[in-house]
Amino acid sequence: TTVDVAEDDYQLGGFADYMRKEMHEQPEAVRRALMGRLDERFSTAHLGGISLDARELRSIRRVKFLGCGSAYYAGQLGANLVEEWARVPADAEPASEFRYRNPVVDPDTLYVAVSQSGETLDTLAAVQELKRKGGRVIGMVNVVGSAIARECGSGVFLHAGPEVSVASTKAVTNMSVCFAMLALLLGRVRDLSVANGRRAVDAMAVLPDRIAEVLASDEDVALAAAKFADARHMFFIGRVRGWPVAREGAQKLKEISYVHAEAYQASELKHGPLALIDATMPSVVIVPDDELVAKNVGTIEQIKARGGPVIAVTNADLPAGLADAVLRVPRSEPELDPILFAIPLQLFAYHVARTLGRDIDKPRNLAKSVTVE
Ligand code: G6P
Repeated sequence: TTVDVAEDDYQLGGFADYMRKEMHEQPEAVRRALMGRLDERFSTAHLGGISLDARELRSIRRVKFLGCGSAYYAGQLGANLVEEWARVPADAEPASEFRYRNPVVDPDTLYVAVSQSGETLDTLAAVQELKRKGGRVIGMVNVVGSAIARECGSGVFLHAGPEVSVASTKAVTNMSVCFAMLALLLGRVRDLSVANGRRAVDAMAVLPDRIAEVLASDEDVALAAAKFADARHMFFIGRVRGWPVAREGAQKLKEISYVHAEAYQASELKHGPLALIDATMPSVVIVPDDELVAKNVGTIEQIKARGGPVIAVTNADLPAGLADAVLRVPRSEPELDPILFAIPLQLFAYHVARTLGRDIDKPRNLAKSVTVE
């Protein structure tokens, strides 16, 4: 007997679609990103491709991440990590905005161009503008030999492997992991102690296992997603470390399910959007068990008091019945929580889209990489 296996089915290896396959490849992808780059002896990271010695690394006074879509949100997560571990001011900006606004290019800033494909035109144009003005720019790119990788000339490859699904999952996770290594490296040539560097190294080394634990909670996430899939609008609420996570979570839901999702900083809710809360407006609230946990519990209470359903994403022990659904995340170092918290939100968007019967790998109106204006 012969079995008809289309090439695509074969490459999917039994998964329903590429997004699902790529989400489940994340533990392996992160392992590859970390391979040979964590230094246990000096509690730091080796990123040989950035070609900056310790003196040059110390001369960096600011870090700016540039990217589009999920690469931009990941950059925001990276900026937080750089500020936390290296205490170097850092931010992220959409590459598309940067290229059009006559940016002030500062010689003491390290610019980081972030892209899965390495072909996004807006990001490439931002790099060219930077180079023209004498800016110091490195790439954080997945595809070797791509236009952005070549234009930057130095940087860090993400090693996520080929990504087919329009909605980026493993590449985004690997971006965050590479940003964590950059933050650690910048921190360890400054004032991050050996002991704190060691905590970071140890926590990064077990990230693949922690991610596998989140992926194992797939069925719980599917149940929660089915419960809320008929909502027309959702809020994604986070603060500080949770804010880029909320933005990326909302982006994923919009991209593949076409449910309107809006990310908001928890503290800004009361300055306007609280008016939208009612029984038809679920909020996904990011609640890491860190120094802001009580604040985030307060946010949930404010939403509940107005009749809004709440899906809590957390590694804390929340009071029973506080949230209508709970997506659990394992514990890690608090600075790395955002990397883990992003994973259940991928699963959540995926299952909402599945419930609604969407074409997950090829969402309408979107392309995997945008190489035109
Ligand atoms: C497109 C994709 C997004 C992606 C963005 C940046 O808009 O639909 O999912 O985040 O491009 O892509 P890049 O390849 O530069 O990371």
